[in-house]
Amino acid sequence: MSVPNPVQPAWRPADVLPDMDDREFARWADLLEERTGMTMPAERKSFLVTSVGLRMREAGYDNYEDYFQYLTSGVFGNLEWTALVDRLTVHETRFFRDVKALEFLREEVLPGVLRPRPTNDALHIWSAGCSTGEEVYTLAMVVDSFLEQQGLALHYGITGTDISLHSLAVGKAGVYPMRRASTLPDDMAARYGETVAQTRFRVGDALRRRVCFAQMNILDAGQLASRELDVIYCQNLLIYFNKARREAIAGGLVHHLRPGGTLILGAGELVKWEHPETECVRNRWDVLAYRRRG
Ligand SMILES: C[S@@+](CC[C@H](N)C(=O)[O-])C[C@H]1O[C@@H](n2cnc3c(N)ncnc32)[C@H](O)[C@@H]1O
Repeated sequence: MSVPNPVQPAWRPADVLPDMDDREFARWADLLEERTGMTMPAERKSFLVTSVGLRMREAGYDNYEDYFQYLTSGVFGNLEWTALVDRLTVHETRFFRDVKALEFLREEVLPGVLRPRPTNDALHIWSAGCSTGEEVYTLAMVVDSFLEQQGLALHYGITGTDISLHSLAVGKAGVYPMRRASTLPDDMAARYGETVAQTRFRVGDALRRRVCFAQMNILDAGQLASRELDVIYCQNLLIYFNKARREAIAGGLVHHLRPGGTLILGAGELVKWEHPETECVRNRWDVLAYRRRG
């Protein structure tokens, strides 16, 4: 087996990526599922072949077998995995993506969690699978404007986690091309950010101080020490997993909620799911949400 120098990739055009037979495809799909939980159906084979193939070329390999061996052994393989997983995951996101879920949060969840709260307490929210951070800043804007409206000086923090280091770096920077800020309501954009050189939107420091980003594989969520969170916002992540995995992840997330805390999911991400410690929260926005009992 030849071990090329990864810093000097052997460049070849994408159209000469080697074919991947069904056995090879199944092996890559299994690796992806084992490590990230994501299922890769046969319809998405061309996406997998292109993503793996292009990254394989960049890393200096020209056949899937050698690249697979490199990726699954040793420290450098682990580093390479973080680069590949970034290619294989879908990072689509935007500011104020799910308006109904955000209204539900503002109108029903926040008043509910804050009612019994002493003013020196803090509010903790987790955005799981936060991609490039727009969701994290959106949640911060909603919470901040709500507290201001209510005249409450409560401390709050929003933690965003994702498996993709590249996405997290974008989130931490908090600077977006203007077109990506187009879904921000004008009042929010003016209140919580600034335009830089007429081409970028930069989230303001006051809001940035309220957020933090960390890498985390959602499959490991069950192993975290309990955080007593008020809200877990997990949207457009479970759709990439099979039913059993979705339910296992949701069950793990619930344990990080404080009693009365709420798990907010994307529409249809769990069907007929029941958990002994939670109740499904019926609401007029039809948002899929579960509240921890207690
Ligand atoms: C489509 S984006 C959703 C972003 C945001 N939640 C939203 O709804 O706009 C899905 C994100 O989940 C992340 N992801 C995929 N598998 C993951 C895993 N096993 N653990 C943590 N994050 C994962 C991807 O990197 C990606 O950024």
